Amino acid sequence: MLELDIRGVSQDIIGSENGLNIQAEFENYKTQIADIVSDLYKRKDTPGEGLQWMNLGYSQETSWYVKEYAALVENRFDNILVLGIGGSTLGGIAITHALLKPYWNLLSKEQRGGYPRIFFLDNVDPDDINGLLDIIDLKKTLVNVITKSGDTTETMAQYMIIKDRLEKELDDDYRKNIIVTTDKKTGILRQISEQEGYKTFVVPDDVGGRFSVFTAVGLLPFALVGINIDEITAGIRDLDAQLKNTNIYENIAAQNALIHYLLDTKYGKDITVLMPYSEKLKFIPDWFTQLWAESLGKNKTIEEKPIKAGPTPIGAIGARDQHTLMQLFNEGPNNKVINFVRIGEFDTTLDIPQIFQYTGIGYLGGKTVNNLINAEADSTQATLIDYSRPTITIKIPKVDGYHIAQLLYMLEMQTAITGALYNINTFDQPSVEQTRNYTYGLMGRIGYEGSAKALHDKLEYV
Ligand code: PA5
Repeated sequence: MLELDIRGVSQDIIGSENGLNIQAEFENYKTQIADIVSDLYKRKDTPGEGLQWMNLGYSQETSWYVKEYAALVENRFDNILVLGIGGSTLGGIAITHALLKPYWNLLSKEQRGGYPRIFFLDNVDPDDINGLLDIIDLKKTLVNVITKSGDTTETMAQYMIIKDRLEKELDDDYRKNIIVTTDKKTGILRQISEQEGYKTFVVPDDVGGRFSVFTAVGLLPFALVGINIDEITAGIRDLDAQLKNTNIYENIAAQNALIHYLLDTKYGKDITVLMPYSEKLKFIPDWFTQLWAESLGKNKTIEEKPIKAGPTPIGAIGARDQHTLMQLFNEGPNNKVINFVRIGEFDTTLDIPQIFQYTGIGYLGGKTVNNLINAEADSTQATLIDYSRPTITIKIPKVDGYHIAQLLYMLEMQTAITGALYNINTFDQPSVEQTRNYTYGLMGRIGYEGSAKALHDKLEYV
């Protein structure tokens, strides 16, 4: 099970100017937290509340469809190519990188257990797209187009390019190489899929993009490359049983939510750092960045009162970023909460050979790289404590589907509870829509002429 070590934010450890009296704060907020948690669970099935992601651990139907399709296409493709952006791809990238063997796409088919390579296109950089198309054989590629809205500019541009090439290479058969994950009824891509006869999967109602990793958005690509999705859903269910608990002393998501909220609003610590000590977890901060930023960055409360909510998320990777960011974290503005993610047991052990006697490096010989990365994390935390910086450690016993799912689900619940503490709408993203509208206008989409004009008027003076 996931564990949270919050001692590093205590004022007994880092002093009362920067640290919390944890016991007193838990007592002060225990009723409010209990109300927030029970309210979330009460509302989770109500349409329009955006809380269906809380049910995904229990959604056997999706798992069944996904596994059935994955079995059907087993051995038929060399590559999976996922097209999407934001919440449609970040979770997939983070979890496949965590759970597949390192350097997966460079392994032979046998080393991959017969499963395909997996690529994600999540941008519209021409060099990157052309580069990928140069190296993969589209005829042997299953393309999964993922977009909840069904008309996201970047994803649709990618889709149009790939569809055109596939059609040229495969004639009418190209349809077998495209599968779509989108809303069950609305959106242009739903319409196209029906006309074209693509196999489709659904992003359920009331699951926002950034909360959608445990729908078919993530589960389908995972199953296609042989990741056990039952382990993932089991992890969520088991943690959910704990996160239902309205008692703050028993609920790690509520604890971390309250700590971040208080450190921001009372102590000005408005930057949240997520720092896994693991290469396998290196894309989890990217996923978390979207979750935390789009959910909490809001300028009005539920009652439409002005507010400037939202700690800024920053990703870092240990031990590497000890050599990039840590000087700033230690001696720069004391406005950050550093969340370490530590793993109990690595999959392998790597010995450092005893080949030199020099005092400067000889001490390393006979130790393991496992000892080293753990020592680096301990030393970094100790130094941050020396500088009175708040730290939290999220511990996962090992990097497997069960625990990775728990890590992401805990961060989702933490985000929902933090949003409720700020009293904001955690589940909308109005300013992202505004940028979309300007882009539609600039690219000539009918009906968005007003957005194009407004944009030209504005940029004339910049
Ligand atoms: O969280 C969200 O809803 C967004 O960030 C979306 O994930 C992102 O904009 C992509 O949208 P769509 O899945 O509709 O293509």
